[in-house]
Amino acid sequence: MTVVPHPPILAPSILAGDHANLAQSARLAADTGVSWIHLDIMDGHFVPNLTFGPQTVAALRRQSSLFFDTHLMLDEPQKYVEAFAKAGSDLISVHIEPAFDHGAALTRIRALGCQNGIVLNPDTPAESVRHLLPIVDLVLVMTVQPGFGGQAFRPAMLDKLSILDAWRKRDGLAFRLEVDGGIDLATGAACRQAGADTFVAGTSFFNSTDRSGFARTVASW
Ligand code: DX5
Ligand code: ZN
Repeated sequence: MTVVPHPPILAPSILAGDHANLAQSARLAADTGVSWIHLDIMDGHFVPNLTFGPQTVAALRRQSSLFFDTHLMLDEPQKYVEAFAKAGSDLISVHIEPAFDHGAALTRIRALGCQNGIVLNPDTPAESVRHLLPIVDLVLVMTVQPGFGGQAFRPAMLDKLSILDAWRKRDGLAFRLEVDGGIDLATGAACRQAGADTFVAGTSFFNSTDRSGFARTVASW
């Protein structure tokens, strides 16, 4: 089966924005022409850091029409998918590592009117999500250990991307393949070569002196 490849999407991560003025950070991103923004939700259990919850997402929803790519780094994400859907998330992704009914949570996310995604930590093999590929809109390959921005990209993740891309092509599946962690124009280009089509960039994007040029470059991949 032939599936048309997805055009590249840049999803700036607001984790690297101004947390006293998230709406302004979302505007900075939107002004470069991107259509997505990545929202990192951390619970202090699954990852050793805390960010914000559905109330903040709902407030941001009133200030931004960007596509909200919501990355739940939670031990029990199934308890919160409804709250994030109601808050205005467009896509909600959950990790494969914690023990809960992943299939049910992914189905529930779609029933709530959102796209769904499954996320793999760097040490988690591609095989662990293989059975879920037919029911997901996106697979997020973490290219750092989640919890903090500004970490170094792990080149070993390129092989995992190639494996997932090969399965996608072979089975005629249409999920997006996203990367998150240490992504800049060099590491992102390498991920694009390996099959990624959706690029989360926090530090490199918000610290860039030419954010519009950054966005144009990703769009050209
Ligand atoms: C890390 C988060 C990332 C983070 C990436 O746990 O999932 O989305 O914002 O930040 P950078 O791009 O700085 O590595
Ligand atoms: Zn993230």
